[in-house]
Amino acid sequence: MATADRRDPTGTAVNHILCRGCDETFGMDLTTFPCPECGGILDPQYDYSSMDLTGKDIEDRDGSMWKYRELLPVSNTEHIVSMGEGETPLIECPTLAEKMGIERLLIKDEGQNPTNTFKDRGLSAAISMANEHGAETVGLPTAGNAGQSASAYAAKAGLNCHVFLNYQAGDVKKDLIEAHGAELHIREGTIDNAGAAFTEAKEENGWYTVTTFETPFRHEGKKTMGFEIYEALDWHTPDEIVYPTGGGVGLIGIWKGYKELAELGIVNDSSPSLTVAQTEGSSPVVDAIKAQKDRHDPVSDPNSIAKGVEIPDPGASPWILEAVRESRGDGVSVPDGAAVDAALQLAQSEGIEMCVTAGVALAGAIKRAERGMYDSDDTVVVTNCGAGVKTSARLGQAARYRPSSFNEWEGADLAVTWAGLALHLPSEIQAACPNPLRSLSQ
Ligand SMILES: Cc1ncc(COP(=O)(O)O)c(C=O)c1O
Ligand SMILES: [Zn+2]
Repeated sequence: MATADRRDPTGTAVNHILCRGCDETFGMDLTTFPCPECGGILDPQYDYSSMDLTGKDIEDRDGSMWKYRELLPVSNTEHIVSMGEGETPLIECPTLAEKMGIERLLIKDEGQNPTNTFKDRGLSAAISMANEHGAETVGLPTAGNAGQSASAYAAKAGLNCHVFLNYQAGDVKKDLIEAHGAELHIREGTIDNAGAAFTEAKEENGWYTVTTFETPFRHEGKKTMGFEIYEALDWHTPDEIVYPTGGGVGLIGIWKGYKELAELGIVNDSSPSLTVAQTEGSSPVVDAIKAQKDRHDPVSDPNSIAKGVEIPDPGASPWILEAVRESRGDGVSVPDGAAVDAALQLAQSEGIEMCVTAGVALAGAIKRAERGMYDSDDTVVVTNCGAGVKTSARLGQAARYRPSSFNEWEGADLAVTWAGLALHLPSEIQAACPNPLRSLSQ
């Protein structure tokens, strides 16, 4: 592979890569991931003592997530593959905050990224590194959104891209992966089957992996989501961040980002509590939190429509659980119907479009509010990891069956039940009778 050109430095403080499994260290020219020694998760390490970055320096810059370039792994600006990802708004939601009995509910609207999810941050970082390493072909297994993002960034960088997808992934993602010119490999079964097929093909063909926690670089890109939350709050931390957790890349990124800004003295507050939200149909991490374990037990029969968080065997669970423990966070699981209903409530009271997977986090925050887990002066951030357009058919289907009276908080349980039922109605019935409940209520 070509050696990195360092003529035009980014000023990155990255120093080496550390394996969290065996403590082996590697240079930044390592191109075979995960750890070649033990298969463990690789984590870039930075020399913070060499940096004199201030909050003001960062505020004075604009552009994409690459304004935090000293804390990202790419060494040469020419290798950065960017479409303006990041710098997404932190949107105030006063109506829902009042209903939840908290001072502020803020939605970090990651749907406003180039391919409409937070995946763009991780893939911009990972594909920039593929570019820096002189790779020609990248690949990954994915629940869908990461594949769409990878295919977009690979197209921008002029790289070939192979995406291994579970057959249940939504049409929007499948269509757009192909629109970007990537090669789509669809597999039966759970995402783990797509993962196994990818590993075999990767080894046979020598592809450069951009897979979750195989590449050391996706959680680096996701750190910027945390940086931006703290920057938007004038370098203060919210009380809690609720995160829809699948593989945990974003949650770990937010956690690592907090620790870096604390180390640099840019943030002086204690960490926000990091709360893992999952669905009842697949909640290995929440179950481990409740049982106070250091590692999850794999789920044998995952069953959720929230595909982004239906990850039955998340390899990074020890790291996720460490972040939750150290940040004094928690775990919450919700039924699919609650996720859909939360997304509808957000769309109908605040105007923000949220996909069903991200609805899991909002539903989790609502459940925690109902259970009295928040104080009246709390600021809670929910990450809207993906835009409503990603699951618009599901949302429209549920909305047609959701009487407008369910907007009243008291009707929430009933609304969740109806949203859940509507998800399972055969399409012929929906077509014949598009909105029986609303017509009854009028
Ligand atoms: C919209 C959305 N939210 C959350 C997740 C889970 O992300 P993570 O791997 O960072 O836990 C995914 C992953 O596919 C996703 O697409
Ligand atoms: Zn190792």
